[in-house]
Amino acid sequence: MRLFISYLLLLLITVATTTSATPTRHRKNYRFPKPCKKLVFYFHDIIYNGHNAKNATAAIVGAPAWGNTTVLTGKNHFGDVVVFDDPITMDNNLHSPPVGRAQGFYIYDKKEIFTAWLGFSFVFNST
Ligand SMILES: *[C@@H]1O[C@H](CO)[C@@H](O)[C@H](O)[C@H]1NC(C)=O
Ligand SMILES: *[C@@H]1O[C@H](CO)[C@@H](O)[C@H](O)[C@H]1NC(C)=O
Repeated sequence: MRLFISYLLLLLITVATTTSATPTRHRKNYRFPKPCKKLVFYFHDIIYNGHNAKNATAAIVGAPAWGNTTVLTGKNHFGDVVVFDDPITMDNNLHSPPVGRAQGFYIYDKKEIFTAWLGFSFVFNST
């Protein structure tokens, strides 16, 4: 049987803000701290495959009539809905200490192309 592990869907998130606030300067020569303009972190998605309930961080919760919730559907996973609670790390290593959780869902919404919509929260518990 083909092991269907969408193992470590590693997502690199780069958030670059372009806001340039113009602070009011009360004192001459006062320097405001430089704003953080870039955040880089990784979240690790291990989808349930029928054998990894202990380690899985994601589960198929909805599938089309021709599929099931154990294995992602064949062509572009169309119709599958997956809920996840993934660890977030500072580097590309699942075993690094987590700094938070990425929690939400994704849906595969196109039959012809491999594409997905994601909706989630990042919950950080570390400075
Ligand atoms: C869970 O992950 C550990 C470490 O990566 C691995 O040794 C173990 O076989 C995994 N267990 C399952 C049920 O996949
Ligand atoms: C789910 O679908 C896959 C692929 O068609 C199949 O191999 C597997 O046996 C199915 N599992 C269940 C629990 O129906």
